[in-house]
Amino acid sequence: MPEALAYDPLVVSSIDFKEEPLTLIQEEILQLKKERNAIILAHNYQIDPIQRIADYVGDSLGLSYQAAKADADVILFCGVHFMAETAKIINPHKTVVLPDLQAGCSLADSCPAPKLQAYKDAHPDTYVVAYINCSAAVKAISDVICTSGNAVRIVRQVPEDKDILFVPDQNLGQWVAKLTGRRLKLWPGSCYAHVLFTVQSLEKLRAQFPGAPIVAHPECVETVRDMADEVCSTEGMLGFCRSHPSRDIIVVTETGMLNRLRREIPGKRFIAGPTDTCACNDCRFMKLNTVEKMRDALANLSPVIELEESIRQNAFRPIKRMLDWSS
Ligand code: 13P
Ligand code: SF4
Repeated sequence: MPEALAYDPLVVSSIDFKEEPLTLIQEEILQLKKERNAIILAHNYQIDPIQRIADYVGDSLGLSYQAAKADADVILFCGVHFMAETAKIINPHKTVVLPDLQAGCSLADSCPAPKLQAYKDAHPDTYVVAYINCSAAVKAISDVICTSGNAVRIVRQVPEDKDILFVPDQNLGQWVAKLTGRRLKLWPGSCYAHVLFTVQSLEKLRAQFPGAPIVAHPECVETVRDMADEVCSTEGMLGFCRSHPSRDIIVVTETGMLNRLRREIPGKRFIAGPTDTCACNDCRFMKLNTVEKMRDALANLSPVIELEESIRQNAFRPIKRMLDWSS
């Protein structure tokens, strides 16, 4: 029997969930949204007060589709920088604002474009599949983009004779290689948050919730993925949790995910995947966005995402290929 966790698990229940009335600042944001003819897109990891007033909440793939069909002058993107940048690449004539420009991503940081270019110069026949968690400059020198929701499908469509380099997430890449049977060279990047989940912490949690299935994000390390009942994108988690008969489900990803699960799937208890030191696992970048910063961003139309046009055009090509290959 594994020893108990050193802290109480974080359990979020939708069994008696009731929506709180909107706060004044949330009302103010919705009013500004009308005045600006804006749309609010939010990632599944955002705090609940942001998810509550977004027009669309989803994973990176869903957000890319929403950005592509956005019928608004302004996109207020509540997520991290590479996501807002993707929206700008797809919508060059729209104003894209991100509540906090410092909302980066450890994966994007792990793959600077000059380093990738140096690799390509040394290996000119390489076909680069880039996880969407990368900068526009990296997208601009990649062949196709993928998200955790379509990575397997995208890699399967790369012609067999290509020598694939998968950037920047080695864990997602390793998972995709296993599922597709393709040989992938892996860039040595990782998500600083998802690698904090461990087999030990999950075993201790499972002892407290016997029979509860585990759903994990592919950015987790292999040993954690191997003990999961399902490995999928954050959007995939919605489907898994909805259809699984268990009342209790262990969710191994960033804690904001539980907000969406609680709102949309009634009658269940979602238990946050713990690390060795904490019951929850917040991404410090995702959590830089606040409702106050949202309000200010819409009021001032700042900070905006700006891109050099040549980079934007080159980055658009592999994104378009992804959207075509996954539709
Ligand atoms: P999803 O596309 O699955 O939402 O993942 C995005 C991300 O940043 C995971 O850490
Ligand atoms: Fe990047 Fe990890 Fe945060 Fe996702 S959770 S945005 S991969 S640092």
